[in-house]
Amino acid sequence: MSAALLIHASQLLTLRGDVAPRRGPAMAELAIIEDGAVLIKDGRITAAGTTDELRPHSKNTEEIDCRNKVVLPGFVDSHTHPVFATPRLIDFEKRVAGASYEEIAAAGGGIRASIHGVRESSADKLAHHVLHALNEMSAYGTTTVEAKSGYGLDLASELRSLEAIRQAAQHWQGTLVPTLLGAHVVPPEFRDNLDEYVRIVCDEMIPAAARPVPQSLSRARRGIRAPQLGANLGNDTPQKLAAYVDVFCERGAFTPEQSLRILRAAVAHGLKTRIHVGQLTHTALELFSEFHCASFDHLDNLSDADIAWLAKSDTVATLLPAANYFLGLTTFPPARKLIDSGVAVALATDYNPGTSPTVSMPMILSLACTQLRMTPAEAIAAATINAAYALKRDDRLGSLETGKQADFAVFEVEDYREIPYYFGMQRCWMTVKNGEIIYLKD
Ligand code: NIG
Ligand code: FE
Repeated sequence: MSAALLIHASQLLTLRGDVAPRRGPAMAELAIIEDGAVLIKDGRITAAGTTDELRPHSKNTEEIDCRNKVVLPGFVDSHTHPVFATPRLIDFEKRVAGASYEEIAAAGGGIRASIHGVRESSADKLAHHVLHALNEMSAYGTTTVEAKSGYGLDLASELRSLEAIRQAAQHWQGTLVPTLLGAHVVPPEFRDNLDEYVRIVCDEMIPAAARPVPQSLSRARRGIRAPQLGANLGNDTPQKLAAYVDVFCERGAFTPEQSLRILRAAVAHGLKTRIHVGQLTHTALELFSEFHCASFDHLDNLSDADIAWLAKSDTVATLLPAANYFLGLTTFPPARKLIDSGVAVALATDYNPGTSPTVSMPMILSLACTQLRMTPAEAIAAATINAAYALKRDDRLGSLETGKQADFAVFEVEDYREIPYYFGMQRCWMTVKNGEIIYLKD
């Protein structure tokens, strides 16, 4: 749609405001307009207000009636691992029988069990998997996704994983932000030579992921089926194979010292940083202060000093409650304490085959409310404007304000609190990216 006017939304959640990321009480301010309207031109928002305010200025514009529906910014899923070949059903059954994530990993399951499938798969095959997941994400209101490599764990397979993300990005209309996670775990062939693997990540993977992408990669479009709706392929395709480098800093993965080496290599090559940290054990966050990381993710194990330090930093705390849920844990990250202390909190799916096989941001909002004790309003801010900030895209994404990309989700509910209230249900009616419909319910 080159121009369109959404009218009569029961609630239009604009999340307008000058400050990003949102902290403390500001996380609950959604700036709701009742009987809301949004005017879209050439993929951008040109006005947001009430239907009465906007209609007189929008003659001859296609109207979309959003009566009895809530319109909100498209979800920004700022932490996913979509490049894998098969689900990990044996791990799942073992966990149901009582084994822990670390016990399963020690017995040959876990992340290492996903390596073989990725090493054996072509870029096209991996791209099909990624694209499938992205289209499913759109069906739940997601318009922007951060996607990590991390199951190839050798130079060729990590680069192929990033190429798969890039190919999928050319066939999905949403925004895709690629991250190199070569430091997910040490692959079995380096079990006795961990430092050599860290060297490969620093000296081979990171430089390769930071190089501008050669034009020839666009040949990758062949063989991939276009999305169901729209024809705006390849928007916002990144210039490099990776925008970020991530590290799994954890017992059984990478030590803080190894993580520092890897993140320093990332910075030296012009890549931004984010870290999986504090999922199973505690690591003092201040250790990473030199990186001004975009985000620290998981954060189940935090000290008061970490929280005080985070509250003063620009790093977002990205909480991933579906991982706790799927691992059958009864403990969750301390969201209430983080928000009440002034930390900028975001939420994401952590979509991956080991700890979080879900693409549904509404399900994450439900877990955030029921398990993290976040309010529905805080959860929505965490999944939109704060998640956009966690990807350094809050200038374009995350709220419905004049000049921003026309990225929004329309839910078949009259009150936004119904979005986390109905769990495991499909209430998303329409998803729009840059003014183009990328999902419409049958
Ligand atoms: O975010 N924690 C590390 N990585 C993933 C799990 C990956 C897997 O088990 O395949 C996570 O939970
Ligand atoms: Fe993760």
